[in-house]
Amino acid sequence: MKVERELSARKFTSYSDKEAFVQGVFSNVAKHYDIMNTILSFHQDAYWRRFAVKQLGLQPGNRLLDVACGTGMLTKEALRQEPTLSVEALDFSPEMLQHGEQRLAKAGLLDRVNLVEGDAMSLPYHKDSFDCAMSAFALRNVPDVMQALKEMKRVVKPGGRVVTLELAKPTAFGFKQLYYLYFEHILPVLGKLSKDNSSYAWLPESLRRYPHQSQVLTMFEEAGYKEATYYELTGGIVAVHVGVVPEEV
Ligand SMILES: C[S@@+](CC[C@H](N)C(=O)[O-])C[C@H]1O[C@@H](n2cnc3c(N)ncnc32)[C@H](O)[C@@H]1O
Repeated sequence: MKVERELSARKFTSYSDKEAFVQGVFSNVAKHYDIMNTILSFHQDAYWRRFAVKQLGLQPGNRLLDVACGTGMLTKEALRQEPTLSVEALDFSPEMLQHGEQRLAKAGLLDRVNLVEGDAMSLPYHKDSFDCAMSAFALRNVPDVMQALKEMKRVVKPGGRVVTLELAKPTAFGFKQLYYLYFEHILPVLGKLSKDNSSYAWLPESLRRYPHQSQVLTMFEEAGYKEATYYELTGGIVAVHVGVVPEEV
């Protein structure tokens, strides 16, 4: 429990402080990320990704941005749903990108994807570069959620959608208690088995620090999105938020 206690007491003093910590976490877990993702989510992640990508309203030939793409699972799902896309897949972890490159190469999709090392806090793209943008399981990890939302809004054309998929806070009595029992007590044991306790301890801790899905919706609205809404999936274990970039006045 020492690692968990230290982590929960830890305060990040700057963007770069949190980014360096998170980069370390993902460089440690990159090798086992995909399999752990499937196990820890009881294979629900495939359904969550399918649902999130559907909310983008993809059109043939769209240019899509995947922010914090990790090992490319969401990019792959987007290309499954709309094979004519061109995708810019950005992440700041070289290790996660390397696994992403392998996955996309194996699926024969690399010609449709440009993998880029970059920071979600300061996207290396001009205004209105994309038809839409998406991001999965990243907002908990960035140092400033509002800045990430504003950056995606800046680089997506007016009328385009931004969709995020992230862990959320279940509220239904009974299910909520069961979920937190799993998340706070069983999951860290699984993390220990993977010999990477500190990285897996970040998962529950990052959710603890992350706002409730209704507050994330308010952030979408404050960042300037219109028609902002969200969907809770699997009893509120995750939430998918959707916002439309407004026309400029
Ligand atoms: C939980 S993984 C999610 C990966 C992928 N989106 C998925 O659906 O599996 C979080 C990812 O966010 C990346 N990340 C965290 N903060 C970032 C930032 N500020 N800029 C770019 N990538 C970031 C990490 O490197 C990691 O690959």
